Amino acid sequence: MFKHIWPYSMLMILVFGLGAFFALIYHEPIIEFTEEITMGNPEIFSLPKDAPEDISLVDPEMAPPDIAEDVMKGYWIMVDTQKNAKEYVGNRLNCRNCHFQAGNTLGGKNGSISLVGVSHVYPRYSKRAGRNINLAERINNCFRRSLNGKPLPINGPEMKALLAYLGWISSPVKDYDSFPWLGLPRIVKDYRPNKENGEKLFQQCCAACHKDDGQGTQLEKEEQILDIPPLWGPESFNDGAGMNRIAMFAPFVWLNMPYMEPVLSEEEVMDIAEYVTSQSRAKFNP
Ligand code: HEC
Ligand code: HEC
Repeated sequence: MFKHIWPYSMLMILVFGLGAFFALIYHEPIIEFTEEITMGNPEIFSLPKDAPEDISLVDPEMAPPDIAEDVMKGYWIMVDTQKNAKEYVGNRLNCRNCHFQAGNTLGGKNGSISLVGVSHVYPRYSKRAGRNINLAERINNCFRRSLNGKPLPINGPEMKALLAYLGWISSPVKDYDSFPWLGLPRIVKDYRPNKENGEKLFQQCCAACHKDDGQGTQLEKEEQILDIPPLWGPESFNDGAGMNRIAMFAPFVWLNMPYMEPVLSEEEVMDIAEYVTSQSRAKFNP
């Protein structure tokens, strides 16, 4: 009797083993959030594994008294732009949807897009503008493009607060001459992205959260509304945003998506980037 059962059970083990293996690679992510992650809780400021070891990031709540109020105000604009800079926002996004931990990271997996050090690298040449731009102008680029909104008044209280916040989180690296964790890495691959495969991968790896129609969703959990941001359409970044370029979208997804468990290859994220950036979205109004 065992003679018959053994090969059968070996086969079952193989089938289940392979099944489990593929389920691990291409599983539907379980939507399980902690308050800390989605609400950008200031308690969490851990360094990504591959970050330089000798830098300790600062907590916004520890800013010195003379700037403390502005720093916290800037922090809350990053985390909840919808509420705290409402007039200037033209879609459903918040800064922290792309600048995780309100930018207070040193890049790496799950740590995009860092803003630690930006206060020391501006004014800086902008290809888009064809001249040097200052940090306030760079911030306004994200308001106008990523948030499809209006520029903040350069001397207004919101800009003052954001500059104070970015200045404070940049303070641990003020003596550095280079900031290699800033900016998304470039994926250098001689590969032509495949939109059809991108759509398939999107359905497998992204739609559980961002939904089939890319519009994201609001999940209610313990009296909190957790926001999963839209990836295209009028409520997402506009066609002039950096994120609408494969060169930015692909490395962002490669490093950060699926949320907190980025597992895709460079080719796969390029396919998804091709699919998502070919969807319709708001037009940038220069
Ligand atoms: C488990 C849920 C989940 C999955 C799966 C997921 N995302 Fe996200 N995604 C999020 C959350 C949450 C944010 C915002 C993070 C924040 O605000 O801290 C986000 C943000 C983004 C953003 C930046 C904000 C925006 O709307 O443009 C992009 C781009 C993105 N995801 C693309 C993808 C792609 C592509 C996939 C599939 C490979 C994917 N995501 C899978 C939850 C998810
Ligand atoms: C849809 C995603 C997205 C959103 C939302 C977003 N940004 Fe950005 N941001 C980017 C991308 C992409 C870059 C360019 C990264 C690169 O250069 O590789 C960037 C760059 C920046 C930079 C310059 C960083 C550098 O290294 O020079 C600043 C400052 C900035 N963003 C601030 C903001 C602020 C403030 C908000 C909210 C008003 C915001 N961003 C919202 C995607 C976004």
